[in-house]
Amino acid sequence: MSLQISPEMFLLGGGVMVAIGVAQKAWTYRQDRQAAGYTPTLKSVISMLRPTMAVLPSGKIPFSKEWYISLGPNWWTSHKYESFRKLGQDVITSTSLDGMPMIFVVADADIAQEVMINRARFTKPIHLYGVLELYGANVVTTEGDEWRIHRKITGPSFSESSNKLVCDETVLVMEGLLDLWNNKSVIEYEDFSDVTMQLALMVICGAGFGIRVSWTDTDAPEGHKLSFKSAIEAVSGGLLLKFAMPGFAMNMTERTSKIETAFDELKVYIQEMIRDRASNYRDYSDLFSNLMAANENDSEGIKLTDDELTGNIFVFLIGKWFATPTPGHETTAHTLAFTIGFLALYPDVQEKLYEHVKREVADRTGAPTYSEVPKLKYALAVFYETLRLFSSVPTIPKISTEDTSVRTVNNKGEPVVVPIPKGSYVSVIAPALHHNRTSISNILSVPY
Ligand code: HEM
Repeated sequence: MSLQISPEMFLLGGGVMVAIGVAQKAWTYRQDRQAAGYTPTLKSVISMLRPTMAVLPSGKIPFSKEWYISLGPNWWTSHKYESFRKLGQDVITSTSLDGMPMIFVVADADIAQEVMINRARFTKPIHLYGVLELYGANVVTTEGDEWRIHRKITGPSFSESSNKLVCDETVLVMEGLLDLWNNKSVIEYEDFSDVTMQLALMVICGAGFGIRVSWTDTDAPEGHKLSFKSAIEAVSGGLLLKFAMPGFAMNMTERTSKIETAFDELKVYIQEMIRDRASNYRDYSDLFSNLMAANENDSEGIKLTDDELTGNIFVFLIGKWFATPTPGHETTAHTLAFTIGFLALYPDVQEKLYEHVKREVADRTGAPTYSEVPKLKYALAVFYETLRLFSSVPTIPKISTEDTSVRTVNNKGEPVVVPIPKGSYVSVIAPALHHNRTSISNILSVPY
């Protein structure tokens, strides 16, 4: 028996399915809005949680005043506090029609603190962190008891003595850069983050792992196809591609096969370091030795596996912001590049900083020593202001583990309670927080 469907029936069936789909989305949207106590919302067809948002430009649905098709890449950085101002309060929601969950977005300093500090009520959305687990679980990709173990072992790597190490290494790396510039009065760069990326990476390689690389170093040592620095740079640039592509496809193009080689090489480098230090760690003085020592000598006998050690080293080396914040060199590099950009735009601040450093540093022709760093308060203020204006980690996502609520005020000064259902995304938006006049006035009351 053959079943024949006329074109009219086909169209009707398709139309009914589309109508059911739209009705379902509209129903979910209404339920979400109700659960959030009708908190003012930013409306888009495509959720900001979708990776497609990173490539689609921001645009509204034709003839709609409120509905966006997509908010567009860098929405929070480019709009700063604007969406909160328009919607009239410091905690709003972002709702979409693509079936993704609603997100509570926060530009209120007290609530941001509550969300960041209360790890039991607001946990990391670790299901989004897969891209950072390519080498092994680590302090960034874990939560709860597992996170506490990673934190206990990696914590001692960040101490006063490691700060000194970072300071001394930075001086060495900067001296190398000044040699390269060779007293030229003008140095031109198309994109100064090319320099700061290398700078931050070289400091982390040296202070973190005792690996000194020069500014011009690209040669691979014997037994390797790439130098350590080239491997990290290629892994850093190819991380998303490696995560998104199936393993077998990585060798299909020259670009992806280079990325694959870099991933293999970096893993070999890290494993060599672990093997080398496992027997020898006391002979070195860097963050990595601290990590290995903590792993060997934990008072409760806690021990990370080699894969977990590799995973942690990886996130300390490679730092990026995707949908989630990550430690490592890129966050630092972007902050440095923004700072240099601002100093170029504000020569009066540049001059004031220069005079301040000359006043506080004893050796007029040399670099500051570690003990002089706390005196460089104006330099710290310049970095803080840069981080305020351009956050290299613009959003910090969390998930609510219980039905809860937060209290804020609207732009009429009236108290508002925002209910947050269990399982909701709650995201602190740094550029909005940093451009919220109320939070800024609190920050400015803290003396530098
Ligand atoms: C300007 C540079 C940096 C910025 C703006 C930055 C920002 C952040 C932010 C926003 C978080 C998330 C906090 C949270 O979820 O509660 C974080 C976590 C963290 N960062 Fe940084 N970071 C920077 C550089 C670094 C560097 C260079 C390292 C180490 C090499 C590092 C190590 C960490 C660690 C270990 C965590 C904790 C991860 C966890 O426990 O979940 N950060 N950072």
